[in-house]
Amino acid sequence: MADRGPGLSDFFGELYLRSTLPFLAGDVTDREVEYLRQAFSDLRVPGPIADLGCGHGRHASQLAGTLGGRFLFGADLDPVSLAERDAGFDAVRADLFRLPLADRRLAGAYAWYSTLFVFEDADIERLLKRVAAVLKPAGMLVFHTVPYEHVASLPVAGFDGPLPDGSHLVEKASFDPATGRDNAYRELTRPDGTVLSGHFFIRYYPRPEMARLVEGAGFKVKWMHGGLDGGPVSAASTDLIVGLERTHA
Ligand SMILES: C[S@@+](CC[C@H](N)C(=O)[O-])C[C@H]1O[C@@H](n2cnc3c(N)ncnc32)[C@H](O)[C@@H]1O
Repeated sequence: MADRGPGLSDFFGELYLRSTLPFLAGDVTDREVEYLRQAFSDLRVPGPIADLGCGHGRHASQLAGTLGGRFLFGADLDPVSLAERDAGFDAVRADLFRLPLADRRLAGAYAWYSTLFVFEDADIERLLKRVAAVLKPAGMLVFHTVPYEHVASLPVAGFDGPLPDGSHLVEKASFDPATGRDNAYRELTRPDGTVLSGHFFIRYYPRPEMARLVEGAGFKVKWMHGGLDGGPVSAASTDLIVGLERTHA
């Protein structure tokens, strides 16, 4: 039977999209796309690649058609992001916990921007196992998040200011080292006065714990990079990019 997941939190959809798009710099996305292209260029397993939680498709739209003839598609549960997505790639509206894929269907998958870590701990484990199941043996999963140590070094963060479209955004976040969760509240007041608001959290794992988590789900760690240059994780790193190989089940 398909695994039931937590579904889409209130935070994703309109609130996430309208308040996040203004902060996504095109040149950074371009470098992320190049990183992913390089990462999958060594993959020898035949088959498609999925962008898990593709959102509006800033990566998938650029990667599709450039991966040596591989089919690339996006999956996301938010209809707004999919409806407004960038051109040039196929997408399916699907819950990551109930991906409409047969086991061992994919050669590769990636999930950018902490997408795999916005769930309860037990759900993150289930999700990683589900992703492992739909990958072929030796298939590859690449995911992006932020190093635990970086978030812990800035335990309280916030934003209060205008956005280019005349909206006003307020965000307050505080990291709890005991649970590894960054708990946040975001409120967007739109130019017409309507207010969108929601709570969310992101779970961060120290690297040894992260390694145990993914190995327990059926992966082998191939690399942990501290940035898009492919260098190691250091105290100054603000990115954690993990490359995994699906071990033989
Ligand atoms: C942090 S955003 C990242 C979007 C995109 N990967 C990017 O880097 O711009 C996470 C995405 O995951 C989607 N998402 C959250 N929970 C989901 C679920 N249970 N099933 C499918 N998509 C989900 C959200 O709608 C959102 O588009």
